[in-house]
Amino acid sequence: MLKRLEELRAEATDLLGSASSETELEELRVRFLGRKSELNQVSRGLGGMEPSERKAVGQAVNALKKELGALLEEARERLAGGGDAKPGLDLTLPGRRPWVGRRHPVMRTLARLEEIFTLLGFEVALGPHIEDDFHNFEALNIPADHPARDMHDTFYVEGDRLLRTHTSPVQIRTMRSRKPPIRIIAPGRVFRNETPDASHSAEFMQLEGLYVDRNVRFGELKGVLTRFLRELYGPDVAVRLRPGFFPFTEPSAEIDVECRVCHGRGCSVCKQTGWVELLGAGMVDPRVFQAVGYDPDEISGYAFGLGVDRICMMETGIDDIRLLMENDLRLLRQV
Ligand code: PHE
Repeated sequence: MLKRLEELRAEATDLLGSASSETELEELRVRFLGRKSELNQVSRGLGGMEPSERKAVGQAVNALKKELGALLEEARERLAGGGDAKPGLDLTLPGRRPWVGRRHPVMRTLARLEEIFTLLGFEVALGPHIEDDFHNFEALNIPADHPARDMHDTFYVEGDRLLRTHTSPVQIRTMRSRKPPIRIIAPGRVFRNETPDASHSAEFMQLEGLYVDRNVRFGELKGVLTRFLRELYGPDVAVRLRPGFFPFTEPSAEIDVECRVCHGRGCSVCKQTGWVELLGAGMVDPRVFQAVGYDPDEISGYAFGLGVDRICMMETGIDDIRLLMENDLRLLRQV
């Protein structure tokens, strides 16, 4: 009897697997599972069997019924999906791709900058977003009545606490807590109370650099920044230094690179000049050394600051800085 059941199983599995229409399936259902099916007859005959045989055959019959039921259901689904029997389900449509997360473009740029400066021997230092007047201004030789404060439209928190307007206060914190030689970069967010437009945002990202030691010269500043820009933009990049002014460096320079978008021909990104200002830099002013307790006759150094967003914008072709803060997924998925 068990052997016969096994034969039935093989036959039914075969036929259900190759059935090609609903009608055929229904015929198979009647034939193998219907009231008059062989299986059902075996079921009904169980009562007349020896108790030991009854148990074994009964279990096998039940298992087979269950298995054939499942196969039947499977075959139904296969037919419904494969043909046009069930409208609205098109298995030839391409699947839905899951969204894959990735780094924000500004953070990608920042990672690249950190990588280059790390190769050049700089280590990363960080400071708080909420600063005080001393670290953000006073120690950087920007006293209360200094006109440079006008350029730093400051968000005040309370008392002399403020949102840092640049990453330069990290220079002060690092020099006050350590002895030279110091060679750090300080990346991070800075805040200015400005009306946002295509090239201004109330918060943006800077990267500060500081090297202090004995006998540091301006030529080293020029050398390290040129090396950095070549690493970033390739060995042929055109670099230009112009005299500049910062209260905390003397002498100071502003450093331009040939516009990466138009290659010097003139476009909206470089405001038709062919050059883009990327860095402010200079030799650390003796008054800054005094403020942190270093002897300016013994110690010298250079500092620089750059805008991370601007570098990111040139790289990605994004021409409005606000787009970098809005987190519009339609844009972020493209870059
Ligand atoms: N802190 C300056 C700014 O935000 C940039 C700078 C840093 C200039 C270091 C010189 C040296 O404008």
